[in-house]
Amino acid sequence: MTTRANPTIAWRATSALSAALLWTLSIAPARADDKARMPALVPQAYTQECGSCHLAYPPGLLPARSWQRLMTGLDSHFGSDASLDAATAQPLSQWLQAHAATSRKLRAEPPHDRITQADWFVRKHRRVDRAVWAHPSVKSAANCAACHPGAGRGDFDDDDLRTPPGIDPSVARRWRD
Ligand code: HEC
Ligand code: HEC
Repeated sequence: MTTRANPTIAWRATSALSAALLWTLSIAPARADDKARMPALVPQAYTQECGSCHLAYPPGLLPARSWQRLMTGLDSHFGSDASLDAATAQPLSQWLQAHAATSRKLRAEPPHDRITQADWFVRKHRRVDRAVWAHPSVKSAANCAACHPGAGRGDFDDDDLRTPPGIDPSVARRWRD
């Protein structure tokens, strides 16, 4: 007889525990028809790793092929090194693809796999001036939360826009016309 724990059972218990810890609950979105909403269960690594330089984009904003390409090219990611070890990247890639865009509007693969270069994005934002994108309080079209306070939840409702600091309110008023 040995007093040592069965290594298989111990390993299983540890991995079940870490699997449980990998998931955090986020608040469910208000509008069920919103295709870009954040899934109810978000892997913690997604928020931590993919939300450290910019918004942790809701997976429904890009088609599966785009997420797959992005996740296999993280070492040269828009001029940054965003690489992750395979054990972290693999489940994130699967999760992103499982929750990727499916609607006709969102499922086309945009140039450079950029949400901000998708046709729908360009059309929806046609009234936003170049100077606004470049303004220090916005910096980039990829900085969704500058204008969409609910971006983290995947809420991009145009009723909930905010005017970034330093942008003339009259400019922002034109957006809503
Ligand atoms: C080291 C910083 C860094 C990390 C970490 C990072 N990114 Fe990025 N990401 C960038 C930069 C820089 C851009 C370009 C932003 C811009 O144009 O303003 C970008 C852009 C993007 C875009 C395109 C945005 C657009 O223009 O539509 C997506 C999608 C994206 N990242 C996904 C991810 C995912 C998924 C992860 C996690 C695996 C991740 N990023 C981690 C730096 C990072
Ligand atoms: C400089 C401010 C600004 C930034 C940054 C921005 N948006 Fe927007 N967005 C707008 C405005 C303004 C509208 C509304 C346009 C209209 O109604 O004419 C809009 C509309 C939208 C809509 C359509 C909403 C609806 O109810 O039809 C979506 C979806 C959206 N944005 C997603 C994004 C995403 C995703 C990002 C980041 C990748 C982003 N936006 C970045 C200003 C911005």
